[in-house]
Amino acid sequence: MRYPWLRLAVFIIGALVPAYWLYLGGVGDLGPDPGKVLVDNLGQGALVFLLCSLAMTPLQKVSGWPGWIALRRQLGLWSFAYASMHLMAYLFFLLGLDVESLPTEVLERPYITVGAAAWLGLLALAATSTRWAMLKLGKRWKRLHKCIYPILLLALLHMLWVVRADAGRWALYATVGAVLLTARLPSVQRSLVGVGRQGSR
Ligand code: HEM
Repeated sequence: MRYPWLRLAVFIIGALVPAYWLYLGGVGDLGPDPGKVLVDNLGQGALVFLLCSLAMTPLQKVSGWPGWIALRRQLGLWSFAYASMHLMAYLFFLLGLDVESLPTEVLERPYITVGAAAWLGLLALAATSTRWAMLKLGKRWKRLHKCIYPILLLALLHMLWVVRADAGRWALYATVGAVLLTARLPSVQRSLVGVGRQGSR
């Protein structure tokens, strides 16, 4: 395994952050509605890891350092893990474990429908993120994993629905997302190659 210390550092951050939030909730430091704060924090965490995962290819192209790519899959899996914890916290704290009402929520609340679609997309990508799935799916693997971009758009739409009054925070995530989507355009990708290395000469 390449870059084991880097992977370990990402693993520790990914695991410690939600544990710290749980601790804050446990000691009463998450405000009057800790369940809602936990749901929100985990949702934002899922989005941050998704954006970080998408940033790895452009960073590799600019710097030429292969370590970025070594982290891409792990960051994507953390995005899925946070989105799953977000879903579980929602079921536990906001629905009071009334799992039977979930289908109604998904069908009747458009922002939940969109969030669920994003989660299912992340599930499909996580399930096919292994080397075995890559070999088995061949060319279809790349096409499937390009769904990460529509998934990002769904996650941003889901968030916009929730934070309408606080659009500034959303705009920040959306801007980063737009920059990363632009970086995927073939002409931009070509111009990114080696930019960092040229600058350091
Ligand atoms: C079945 C899947 C999902 C459900 C049921 C769900 C549910 C929710 C709910 C109920 C809220 C608002 C909580 C509140 O009242 O403040 C929320 C907010 C949010 N969700 Fe989701 N969500 C899902 C999937 C996702 C996914 C896949 C992502 C990102 C990849 C995501 C990111 C967010 C973000 C960023 C917020 C806003 C947090 C904030 O206000 O700071 N959600 N979600």
